[in-house]
Amino acid sequence: MTTTSELDTGTGYGRPKPSYNARLREVGPGTPMGEALRRYWHPIASSETLVAGALPHKTRVLGEDLVVFRDGQGNPGVVIERCTHRGASLFYGRVEDDGIRCCYHGWKFDVQGRCVEQACEPALGRRRDAARQPWYPVAERYGLVFVYMGPPELKPELPRYDALENPAEDERYFASWPVPHAAVLGMPADFSWLNIYENSADPTHVTWLHSTHSGYQMLGTGTFGYPENFFDPATIAERLTYERTDHGVKYTQRFEVEGENGEVTEYGFAVEQHLPNVFGLPDYVKVTPDARPDQLLWVVPSDDTSHRLFFSIRTNDPERMVRFVIGITQNGKQNHELTDEERQLFPGDTEAQGSQGTITLDSEETLATGDRGVVMLRRMLLTMADDVEAGRDPINIIRDASEVHHTQSGLFTIGKRPAGDSTDATATATAGN
Ligand code: FES
Ligand SMILES: [Fe+2]
Repeated sequence: MTTTSELDTGTGYGRPKPSYNARLREVGPGTPMGEALRRYWHPIASSETLVAGALPHKTRVLGEDLVVFRDGQGNPGVVIERCTHRGASLFYGRVEDDGIRCCYHGWKFDVQGRCVEQACEPALGRRRDAARQPWYPVAERYGLVFVYMGPPELKPELPRYDALENPAEDERYFASWPVPHAAVLGMPADFSWLNIYENSADPTHVTWLHSTHSGYQMLGTGTFGYPENFFDPATIAERLTYERTDHGVKYTQRFEVEGENGEVTEYGFAVEQHLPNVFGLPDYVKVTPDARPDQLLWVVPSDDTSHRLFFSIRTNDPERMVRFVIGITQNGKQNHELTDEERQLFPGDTEAQGSQGTITLDSEETLATGDRGVVMLRRMLLTMADDVEAGRDPINIIRDASEVHHTQSGLFTIGKRPAGDSTDATATATAGN
């Protein structure tokens, strides 16, 4: 037997039971965050792949089981999965011209849940008006079907974003993942929506996980246009700023590119979250500064421990869409092609975010300066919940249909300095964001 004279500290023994901040992380009906999130429109399906008259789809949003379909006349519909008659799943229903018909006894409901027929009742249901299948309002924009699951009297306008408005004549919206299991209902993942939404406010992981630890992962299908100083872990802390914007949290990562004539241009790579669950990304693969942002993503909670990711991109270039949605490769492969050993050797977002757990345990974290964006985002989300509880409209609720949200995500020129001038490029700034 060996003994030591000094007591071991920091061992795993006797740790307190892990816990998470339920106010921030639970999304079901009646929870503070669940009620706050119910004040907004959320993507539920891709417009293009939700086909009129086709079989219905089953999904879960904010802890509620729903069926999504498009009737034969082309109207999208979202209803509670459980039939109001005696509970059979409408997932097994049949979509008809004017609604969805339950498989069990043939009751048919239109896209607003009105019972339009009770197949086995006298006169197809003399009292059918008394039956209402619970439903939610839907609206389509940017190639997506959005649903509103909150109090009807507080339903806001469906938001507009300048990144996606006014497509050029040759542009279209791509909003369906080019993989079968995610084509209609968004990309599913079995961990909390906040694992990924917080990740979008976490630039240091790009420097480490995507650029240093696992090799450079943003090769995608495009041209690598970022210089090494963009990712340098040794200088990342001093090149980052975080700020609150009118819509959420924005980080800017500065870096420099030297032109052929020796002139140095400083750029800002900016990512902005629009609460409650929207964010935009610059092109990670190709340096195209000062262009209008062309895409947004939405992280929609399915329940406390799973989510679906949606996107819309406005482009005339299908390659740009592919580069955007599957631009991150690991060891030159897509995530689903990796062996277990490759996952260990070349981990990416799936490995990092997925292994944080199905829900982040706040009590187990040790936050540092690189987490400033995450902390700001959490605070703003909690304020959003406070506002809803206090009876106020939370952030980013639109009551005026002409209002358009400005997105600050993108790659912007900060300034230039001539060849041989070693001063900070911002000192001679010619443009900003
Ligand atoms: S359970 Fe749906 S019609 Fe009877
Ligand atoms: Fe990432």
